[in-house]
Amino acid sequence: MVGIEFWERPHEERHAEFARLRSLESPPFFAEPRIPLVRAGKGFYALTRHADVVEVSRNAKIFSSEPAATSPEPPPWIAWLFGRPMVNMDDPRHGRLRRVVSRAFSPKMLGRIQEEIQATATMIVDDLEREGARDFVEQVAARLPIHVICAMMGVPPERRPYVLKRIDVMTEYSGVRGSLFSPRTIRLLLGNLKAIVDLHRLVAKMGRERRGAPQDDLVSALVNANVDGEFLTTRELGSFFDLLLVAGNETTRNALAHGLKLFTDHPGQRELLLEDYDARIGPAIEEIVRYVSPIIQFRRTLKEPYTLGGHSFAAGDKVVMLYQAANRDPAVFTDPDDFDISRSPNPHVGFGGPGPHLCLGANLARMELKIMFRELFTRLPAIRTTDDPELLLSNFDNGVVCQPFAF
Ligand code: HEM
Repeated sequence: MVGIEFWERPHEERHAEFARLRSLESPPFFAEPRIPLVRAGKGFYALTRHADVVEVSRNAKIFSSEPAATSPEPPPWIAWLFGRPMVNMDDPRHGRLRRVVSRAFSPKMLGRIQEEIQATATMIVDDLEREGARDFVEQVAARLPIHVICAMMGVPPERRPYVLKRIDVMTEYSGVRGSLFSPRTIRLLLGNLKAIVDLHRLVAKMGRERRGAPQDDLVSALVNANVDGEFLTTRELGSFFDLLLVAGNETTRNALAHGLKLFTDHPGQRELLLEDYDARIGPAIEEIVRYVSPIIQFRRTLKEPYTLGGHSFAAGDKVVMLYQAANRDPAVFTDPDDFDISRSPNPHVGFGGPGPHLCLGANLARMELKIMFRELFTRLPAIRTTDDPELLLSNFDNGVVCQPFAF
């Protein structure tokens, strides 16, 4: 679970191990190496049961998202250098920052972005018809979310390929990746840092332009928002930008790519969906997110002693919420390994558990998936995957690097 070997194993083996961990009396502990300057390792308890993930997510007063909610935990100098995104903050500051951005995700704003999503989905399928099928990730799944989030942020269309390239580099170094001191890991880490610097420069420039002359976009809302009596610093603005880009891009892209593979492998489910697309696409999206869990895990640190899942935790202990495991918990989901779009209820935690950090972009992601699949299935009815995907080796993103397909 700590080393790369675990995440390299086939997903069926991963799920079998999750099932074994779920059946233990109390959450197992995994030690992590503490490596000065690179990793702030301490070790964590793995939460694999749905009930435990829900309880931790709800109880943010005890289970803190500080100093960081990602796993492995980044060393403190990363926050010092690049700022701390709100996903790594607790209330009240987290709540204030969240309110600044949440306006962009209100039903009214989503209604406006819907047209942008539809136009982008139409353009993607027009391009497919012209170019033919190569890789579903490159031609479809990676294109839609980046256009949408860049439009919301106010990144001009000509700068979007530049942004996408840097996001790809940033997520290439997500989670565990072999020996920390291998030339490949060092190269990835340096590439990652450079990508972050490039994006921060871009957003700082956009912020300077919009400070005096606000436009109808998120960067304008962020630079002109007053949080705790202060304006966001350039560093804080940069970390916000990273969060929205990484959170809004990779996740939706992977849900789209896994979704096409699931509908190919389960033709009965696809038929069921297409019999009444409008009625069934909502539950189908929830089932894709449950089954795939595009985000594998998030971490919390205990502020006070607490008893959970048969274990007495001490202040300072770390827990990792394995959404991917919780979403297959048979105590909550009947036949959890079946992909079943008519599953109801479907209280999955793929967008995080209930609590202050519940995914801010869930409704945006749902809208993107709904519009993109409609465009694909109606205009290219024979669309299907033709081989297994190349999956990203990561303990954080259930990522698809490449997905061969045909239509
Ligand atoms: C299928 C797509 C998506 C999945 C599976 C997903 C998953 C998640 C999860 C699991 C969390 C919880 C983090 C925690 O509890 O610490 C989260 C938070 C978040 N997500 Fe998403 N997400 C998706 C799409 C998006 C989109 C499209 C955006 C928008 C740009 C977005 C923005 C965010 C933000 C800003 C947070 C942090 C919220 C906070 O800390 O208050 N996500 N997401």
